[in-house]
Amino acid sequence: MKPINEIIKNKPIVGWLLFLSTIIVVFLLGLLASSIIERRAESVFVYTPQVAYGQFEPRNEVWGQNFPRQYQSYRKTADTTFRSKHQGSATIDMLEESPRMVVLWAGYAFSRDYNQSRGHANAVNDVRNTLRIGTPVDGKPSIQPNTCWTCKSPDVPRLMNEIGVAEFYKGTLESKGHEVVNAIGCGDCHDATTMNLRISRPALVEAFERQGLDITQSSHQEMRSLVCAQCHVEYYFNKKKVEGVQYLTFPWDNGMTVEAMEQYYDNIEFTDWTHSLSKAPMLKAQHPDYELYKLGTHASRGVSCADCHMPYMSEGGQKFTDHHVQSPLNNVANSCQVCHREETAKLITDVYERQDKLIENKYKLEEILVRAHVEAQKAWELGASEAQMAPILTDIRHAQWRWDYVAASHASAFHAPVESARIISGGMAIGQEARLKLSRLLASLGHNQEIPYPDIATKAKAQEFIGLDMDQLDQNRKRFLEEVLPAWIEKAEEREKTYETKQL
Ligand code: HEC
Ligand code: HEC
Ligand code: HEC
Ligand code: HEC
Repeated sequence: MKPINEIIKNKPIVGWLLFLSTIIVVFLLGLLASSIIERRAESVFVYTPQVAYGQFEPRNEVWGQNFPRQYQSYRKTADTTFRSKHQGSATIDMLEESPRMVVLWAGYAFSRDYNQSRGHANAVNDVRNTLRIGTPVDGKPSIQPNTCWTCKSPDVPRLMNEIGVAEFYKGTLESKGHEVVNAIGCGDCHDATTMNLRISRPALVEAFERQGLDITQSSHQEMRSLVCAQCHVEYYFNKKKVEGVQYLTFPWDNGMTVEAMEQYYDNIEFTDWTHSLSKAPMLKAQHPDYELYKLGTHASRGVSCADCHMPYMSEGGQKFTDHHVQSPLNNVANSCQVCHREETAKLITDVYERQDKLIENKYKLEEILVRAHVEAQKAWELGASEAQMAPILTDIRHAQWRWDYVAASHASAFHAPVESARIISGGMAIGQEARLKLSRLLASLGHNQEIPYPDIATKAKAQEFIGLDMDQLDQNRKRFLEEVLPAWIEKAEEREKTYETKQL
């Protein structure tokens, strides 16, 4: 090839072309630099504090003045429109979906009312509206302790700081109704001065300590799941730790599997309630989301809860964490597709397939359990002795614990499909074992016919079958919302006026 100056000498147009393209390149580089500087200025502006507030500020809108992007995305958790095949943010009446649950929880408040979880901004209101709190009217106490508020609000760390942890748990739920008013938010997961992720709930710290672990040594990636594990876990109320207090405790001392926790509860002879039909000493699983997630493929590859439920997003050149905690199926592009190249439809099908397959056997286990409860009821009626019933009732307890463990963690089918299927099939085996023993016992008591399956085709029929007076409960709720709740809200507003914040 000829040297460049010779080419230009022969064809001056080439020289002009080279000159022009250099000018264009320099101009574009200039544009890029100015855009980078502008965006940097913007990011400085975003993080310039507008307001100063204390470490235990519970009001999300106050933090929101300093962090508008995070706050505005957080606000979207109030939205209840998205529905996936089985989940999403809409209100889903689980007892209507599966009226068998009403029978499984006979004698326990869950048989009255049980909706699937919605977004974090609804947390406080959903507690106020559920029949499970026993609608405290006419000065009557709630049937739940204050401990129930623990996973609902940044008012919780505030109160624990003011009055102490045990004192917070103490008393029935209506006594702190005017204190716990701000829905789950900033103060639950962040330190106000550094904005680092922080563990605000003592139960998680204490569970680590009892296993000889120091939670402050957790990695940044682990913290992106541990902030969720403050609430999305199995727990119970320990009445023996502090006199007169239902102390929030995670049953992890023997390990974090379904069997290890069952052993823990069996060893301390803990029961949540006695089943009203079978008289079995029952366990109610809460929502072991973190424990089940830990046994799935994603956790074993180091993927955190926040990776899927709080992915990064970009707005005006600013990269930040999407605080709209929700079903990732409403946001596949920012969550799954950061790591997976498959089409959106394929990824959603992967999730639905796992859910549908798990539900198949979960429903079968529910039917086995309904049958076991009514057969046990019949055995009592025919004069079975405590000694004859004891091993059967233990089987029912263990089988239903397995069902509930998977059912209560709505996300189990995707978070840990193999482990969840294992637990359900284990439950089926134990449940059938109970029924085998029951049929021998019933025969020895002179009954060798099938016990008819009750007509529980709808939630209403099932509630009637177990003898619930729903009209009365609904009336009480209406009175609670009209007569008691407004005073809570008013009192809270008065208190919050006294909080110190300073516009900067
Ligand atoms: C690999 C991605 C991924 C990870 C990691 C993950 N999840 Fe999920 N999660 C999902 C998917 C997918 C669903 C199902 C959503 C649906 O069916 O609409 C789900 C569902 C849920 C639900 C029920 C949502 C609803 O709409 O009712 C909760 C609660 C939940 N996850 C919490 C957690 C917690 C807590 C962690 C960490 C301990 C976690 N998830 C880790 C992907 C993930
Ligand atoms: C359920 C826990 C949770 C809640 C509630 C929460 N955050 Fe976050 N926040 C996170 C996580 C997880 C990250 C990512 C942190 C990381 O990886 O360093 C984050 C990151 C941030 C960051 C760092 C910048 C960014 O976007 O990554 C800011 C600022 C922030 N959050 C503000 C807020 C504000 C304001 C609120 C209340 C409106 C809030 N957060 C509520 C969990 C939470
Ligand atoms: C302070 C307790 C608390 C913390 C911390 C917390 N959650 Fe929740 N979460 C809840 C409660 C309570 C609900 C149900 C709210 C309702 O139904 O009103 C919920 C609901 C959800 C839902 C269902 C949302 C929907 O639209 O259906 C998802 C998903 C979820 N949480 C994921 C997470 C993830 C991921 C983290 C950690 C980054 C986390 N949560 C941290 C208590 C908490
Ligand atoms: C931060 C990265 C990351 C994100 C986000 C993520 N995944 Fe994964 N996923 C992985 C890794 C890593 C594996 C394991 C693959 C392997 O080791 O071969 C995996 C495995 C899987 C598998 C096969 C294992 C199983 O559980 O059956 C499916 C299905 C899957 N992911 C779907 C999803 C869906 C759907 C989402 C969004 C809700 C998602 N993933 C989000 C990284 C991610």
